[in-house]
Amino acid sequence: MSEQSQPSRRAALARMGLWLNGVFGALLSVPLVAYLLSPLRRRSGAGGRQWVDLGPSSQFPEGETRLAAFRNPFVRPWDGQTAEIPCWVRHIERETFQVFAVNCAHLGCPVRWFAASGLFLCPCHGGVYYADGSRASGPPERGLFQYDYKVDNGRLVILAGQLPTLSTSASLRRRKPCEG
Ligand code: FES
Repeated sequence: MSEQSQPSRRAALARMGLWLNGVFGALLSVPLVAYLLSPLRRRSGAGGRQWVDLGPSSQFPEGETRLAAFRNPFVRPWDGQTAEIPCWVRHIERETFQVFAVNCAHLGCPVRWFAASGLFLCPCHGGVYYADGSRASGPPERGLFQYDYKVDNGRLVILAGQLPTLSTSASLRRRKPCEG
């Protein structure tokens, strides 16, 4: 090996090292960039939510609370059965409803409705909610989360996709038809 070829080989290896560092750096930055841009993506759409049909509003008798279910509109192939999301529908009167997330506001266990006592009970740590979803007792610090809803051509439609949270939940969530 000549003395002249050594610097050029060293330079070539250094260039290749820099190139590989660049490639690996770019690959590693993809998830980070996607994470940083995710709020923008969420803001530009419907906030990661989409209107989902729960069926004819007439299937929920006035004065009753019934379990319903819908398929997550942002389902991925590997979601399987977890894409089926239950919710509690309370029909107050005419076109006034409340649609509750089934998850307890404490640690997310599914709550059950007991018509006889008019209460939602959480089996995990004894959280109790009144019929209107407000907190009655136990560890939850707030009431059940609610979905936005509207009645469209006699069908009950909710804004689903992301579980309702403090930032999206309010007491009565009816949307006027003009609100989209
Ligand atoms: S998860 Fe419901 S009370 Fe704890």
